[in-house]
Amino acid sequence: MRISSKGRLIGRLGSAITGLTLLLQVAPADAARPGGEYGVDWGKPQGQECIDCHATENPGLYWEWNHSAHGQSGVNCLDCHEAQEGDVDAFSHEDALISVIVTPKDCSKCHTTEFEEMDGSHHSKAGQILASLDNLLGEVVGGPAVVNAGCRQCHGGTLEFETEGKNKGRPKPGTWPNTGIGRVNPDGSWGSCTACHGRHRFSRAQARTPDTCGKCHVGPDHPQIEVYNESKHGIIYRAKVDEMNMDSDKWVAGIDYSAAPTCATCHMSAGPDEGKTHNVGERISWTLRPPISKKINLVKLENGDEFDVPEGKEIPKVGDEAKGSKVVEVLSWEDRRGKMENICYGCHATSVIVGHYKQFDDVVDLYNEKFAEPIAAIMGELKEKGYITPAPFDDQIEWTWWEIWHHEGRRARHGASMSGPDYTWWNGIYDVAKHTYFKFIPELKEVAMKKDGNEEFATVMLEKYFKPIDGHAWYFEGMSKEAIDKVRKGFEARYGKGALK
Ligand code: HEC
Ligand code: HEC
Ligand code: HEC
Ligand code: HEC
Ligand code: HEC
Ligand code: HEC
Ligand code: HEC
Ligand code: HEC
Repeated sequence: MRISSKGRLIGRLGSAITGLTLLLQVAPADAARPGGEYGVDWGKPQGQECIDCHATENPGLYWEWNHSAHGQSGVNCLDCHEAQEGDVDAFSHEDALISVIVTPKDCSKCHTTEFEEMDGSHHSKAGQILASLDNLLGEVVGGPAVVNAGCRQCHGGTLEFETEGKNKGRPKPGTWPNTGIGRVNPDGSWGSCTACHGRHRFSRAQARTPDTCGKCHVGPDHPQIEVYNESKHGIIYRAKVDEMNMDSDKWVAGIDYSAAPTCATCHMSAGPDEGKTHNVGERISWTLRPPISKKINLVKLENGDEFDVPEGKEIPKVGDEAKGSKVVEVLSWEDRRGKMENICYGCHATSVIVGHYKQFDDVVDLYNEKFAEPIAAIMGELKEKGYITPAPFDDQIEWTWWEIWHHEGRRARHGASMSGPDYTWWNGIYDVAKHTYFKFIPELKEVAMKKDGNEEFATVMLEKYFKPIDGHAWYFEGMSKEAIDKVRKGFEARYGKGALK
């Protein structure tokens, strides 16, 4: 399709309509086409004035829009930016009532499916972090400015608007720009579609790249992009990015491309036997975020909301009342895993998939059972018996435990879930173990000494929670003679007699 270089709607429209018709004819059944029709639901004539003026005011913005699916289909500035009388974010501009902000609800005028899928998910709720330990850390130990320019740029903040003066209806500079994934919008909707579809191109191809997700899924406490980059998937993606068919309308793993999966492949896009979704939680069976990981079942409600029920808790059934609505669908953790596996099958056979999940589950179990459960139990007793204060983060040992689960333990779990061996061990369990034995335990002894004048309580705790676990035997009994002999023999076979000093 030829793209005109200047905002002449007639020329562009001619080709856009042909293009649109053509696309509709070849559109596969699973491509969610927007609802509506040019000239009825979009293509407001007054929008042409916006285009003409902004083409010279902001040529970059105009260029991106004109090269987008929207520009090419005749969806113009006013179709997205139009506001209603009484909206807190409305202001009059060149004879139109507009808003700078375009929310998921605005997009849903034409893209209902994507809106509804995202609306139920954890993504749209990511702005609800006020009551978290992370937030306390950010607000108090750090400071509000860093919560604003840090946390909220990923999680989403609450937008506020000038209520008087010449800027009435414009976003307050302290609260916008913000395209966090769970932004709280003035129309009551949560989230931001621009978090993944950068404006004004709003492209699918860009959203399919790993870097899109890597803006947020990065860093010491959730290094998904780093894990992906070191996995075979990430390596082959970079080597063969030109074979990825990223612009394709239909993008089914194993059929429309086969080189490697991206984040979107596994968490959102279609597989041969699996539809695409804007709900990134549908295909995960564990939560790897909390101190102790749990398998999670997904309960969907009639009102569009949904929630996770951890393994072991009672799961409501279809038809039951729950959270002020009715249960319409339940996905067990096995169902969720099955959905992910359907994607893998586009490129792999059973042994790789089953083997991957076995190796992953084993690491999560190891982390849970050997480290997280005993430490969490001891932390509980320290608090209950007054060895540390009830307030979080005012005792050194609380920071130690926090870093063990929130940073190091997550890294290990994330590494194992997506095939990043360095994150599983050197950046993961290695750090967990080092800090368990050589920070947490010494600090436990100090805490006991400080209150009681002796280490008795620490010894009791270790005997109670650590000693029964086989994996800690080496700590209590030293390395066994057999274990050391085995290492010595291996060393000597490789480096000669007497090599292990
Ligand atoms: C005659 C030129 C002209 C026309 C027509 C025009 N604009 Fe603008 N627009 C501007 C200029 C100049 C600015 C920057 C000054 C300002 O913020 O008011 C602006 C600002 C904006 C902003 C706010 C940007 C910000 O950062 O706060 C939006 C959104 C916008 N225009 C959209 C539109 C839409 C939608 C239309 C069509 C209804 C439109 N414009 C019509 C010239 C124009
Ligand atoms: C598909 C919907 C859509 C269309 C079409 C659209 N915009 Fe936007 N625009 C957005 C979104 C989303 C934002 C980001 C606002 C937010 O964070 O909610 C935005 C932001 C803006 C901004 C402020 C941000 C900046 O980078 O300065 C201006 C100005 C603007 N748009 C003008 C225009 C103009 C002019 C056109 C037509 C050429 C246009 N828009 C077409 C959705 C759209
Ligand atoms: C670089 C982007 C980024 C920044 C900055 C960031 N987070 Fe997060 N946060 C994330 C991502 C991504 C996740 C989900 C990680 C996962 O699923 O493994 C997350 C998870 C969380 C969770 C757990 C949510 C749950 O449902 O269990 C909380 C709470 C949280 N963050 C709060 C904060 C606070 C408070 C700050 C600032 C002090 C902050 N985050 C800074 C990206 C960020
Ligand atoms: C977490 C990132 C992310 C967010 C947030 C997001 N999208 Fe998407 N979107 C994607 C990806 C990835 C694709 C491509 C899926 C595929 O491969 O088929 C996509 C595709 C689409 C498509 C094309 C659908 C098709 O069938 O080809 C539309 C329309 C769309 N998104 C609209 C939205 C809207 C509206 C929102 C906000 C309610 C939104 N997206 C939020 C990542 C995202
Ligand atoms: C007035 C209707 C309308 C609104 C509002 C609208 N879109 Fe679209 N959108 C369309 C049409 C029409 C297409 C082109 C479909 C096609 O190519 O057949 C499209 C295509 C898309 C695509 C596919 C792009 C690609 O790479 O092919 C994405 C992603 C998308 N829209 C996201 C959004 C987002 C995000 C918003 C809100 C900021 C939004 N849309 C608002 C009508 C709309
Ligand atoms: C080969 C498929 C695949 C790719 C590629 C992939 N993931 Fe994953 N992801 C998984 C699997 C499998 C899990 C674990 C699912 C489970 O719990 O059963 C997972 C888990 C997650 C989780 C949940 C973590 C938590 O704390 O509970 C997040 C977030 C995530 N991935 C984000 C990403 C991002 C971002 C990328 C790209 C940088 C990515 N994934 C690439 C398959 C993939
Ligand atoms: C703007 C920041 C941002 C972007 C971009 C982003 N995410 Fe997220 N994601 C988050 C945050 C924050 C959470 C944690 C939400 C919560 O639980 O409160 C999250 C959670 C998740 C989860 C866990 C869902 C669940 O139900 O537990 C998955 C999987 C995920 N994201 C995948 C992706 C993929 C794939 C992409 C790219 C296509 C992506 N994300 C893009 C911020 C982002
Ligand atoms: C788009 C195709 C594609 C998809 C989808 C895909 N993979 Fe892969 N995967 C590959 C390719 C290509 C390799 C590299 C094979 C090799 O040379 O080792 C690979 C390698 C692997 C490896 C390493 C194998 C080895 O021998 O070292 C594992 C494990 C793996 N994938 C698991 C998965 C899982 C689990 C899923 C689904 C959650 C998945 N993959 C989805 C293409 C894919």
